[in-house]
Amino acid sequence: MRAPLQGFLRWLDARLPLTRMIRQHLTHYYVPKNLNFWYVFGVLALVVLANQLVTGLWLTMSYTPTAEGAFASIEYIMRDVEYGWLIRYMHSTGASALFLVVYLHMFRSLLYGSYRAPRELVWIFGMALYLVLMAEAFMGYLLPWGQLSYWGAQVITSLFSAIPVIGADLAQWVRGDYLVSGVTLNRFFALHVIGLPIVIVALVMLHLVALHEVGSNNPDGIEIRSHTDEKGRPLDGIPFHPYYTVKDLVGVAIFLFVFAAVIFYFPEGGGHLLERPNFEPANPLVMPEHIAPVWYFTPFYAILRAITFGFLGLEAKFLGLVFMATAIALMFVLPWLDRSPVKSMRYKGWLSRLFLALFCLSFLALGVLGALPPTPLRTLAAQGCTVLYFAYFLLMPFYTRLERPKPVPNRVTIR
Ligand code: HEM
Repeated sequence: MRAPLQGFLRWLDARLPLTRMIRQHLTHYYVPKNLNFWYVFGVLALVVLANQLVTGLWLTMSYTPTAEGAFASIEYIMRDVEYGWLIRYMHSTGASALFLVVYLHMFRSLLYGSYRAPRELVWIFGMALYLVLMAEAFMGYLLPWGQLSYWGAQVITSLFSAIPVIGADLAQWVRGDYLVSGVTLNRFFALHVIGLPIVIVALVMLHLVALHEVGSNNPDGIEIRSHTDEKGRPLDGIPFHPYYTVKDLVGVAIFLFVFAAVIFYFPEGGGHLLERPNFEPANPLVMPEHIAPVWYFTPFYAILRAITFGFLGLEAKFLGLVFMATAIALMFVLPWLDRSPVKSMRYKGWLSRLFLALFCLSFLALGVLGALPPTPLRTLAAQGCTVLYFAYFLLMPFYTRLERPKPVPNRVTIR
């Protein structure tokens, strides 16, 4: 390095822990050498999140957050603002991409037991991120002020009114009005562009700090820090930089090809990324025939609708809400439900594999059912899938103890 630059770095290091941070989190941060492609989705989530923050900022420059101006300002962005169409498609496709990579990232954690000790906090910060991302996406969806924006927000905010005693007041408090209105749009806008992004960025930092404290898990579910050389470096670890930065770049490049292809050739995703009724301005007097949320919410929406019966004097709508909330709450306590002596699915028994497969299939089926208008048969199917979804979590303490795991090797394996 040239002398003036070295001098500047020394000056900076005396005032900021720059070199120390780079060493601690990149060049001397040891990562298991057997990570496979499932490990790229965390980095992809970071990339898409950055895309959302930057394109969101640019959209805000031309967007009007009022009931009178919102819809027209989106049309203005799409038609008149230089590259406005690109920025908007990057943001709308980006929202779906973020959920897709986050779902794959979560599936990887289920596959390799990454939620287990000592990574419970990494998982809990991840779950908190997931919840806030859902709120962020829900609020963002109201902003174009199209028919589905309006009625989707109306349906979801009125769910609060199903809560006994405080429900009606709570729903009104959330909306700031008797119905979804410009007041609701204003507060959702404030939360979408300022409040929640700050929380999301803070949670991502906590997620990664907690991860670096304990180190990454790997497909074998073996702690690499228990086998170290005389200097304390894990024998099965390699520095994150340059090895994984380069490997991750390949994943990022492939992802960007696919992402660009969708943005340029398939931006509406056949009505799944941008829905047709949302190209009509919101009309509080005309409800669309079929209201369904965007694909990443539909599994939970299907659980909500699957509860068609009341119980112990509680209304079906309220019970549906309880089931939906419990479906998410159960994921938070996952680290304490899994009692298997091994972490990774590679060494767990067939019961764990079966339940994970059934859970994934039921989640996908719920996703499809939640997007379709209900019929008696679809409701029955959604009820069956809801049972399978809950069985994965509630029976986990039993089947993970019952089955016989395979012997786990001492050191990581490369496959
Ligand atoms: C914006 C959202 C998110 C971002 C940017 C993010 C980012 C990351 C990154 C960069 C890693 C390290 C690389 C990797 O292991 O893939 C990671 C690890 C991890 N994340 Fe996330 N994550 C997000 C959401 C979530 C969610 C929703 C969960 C689960 C509820 C989660 C659970 C985990 C776990 C358990 C690990 C450790 C994995 C291991 O060591 O095997 N993350 N995350």
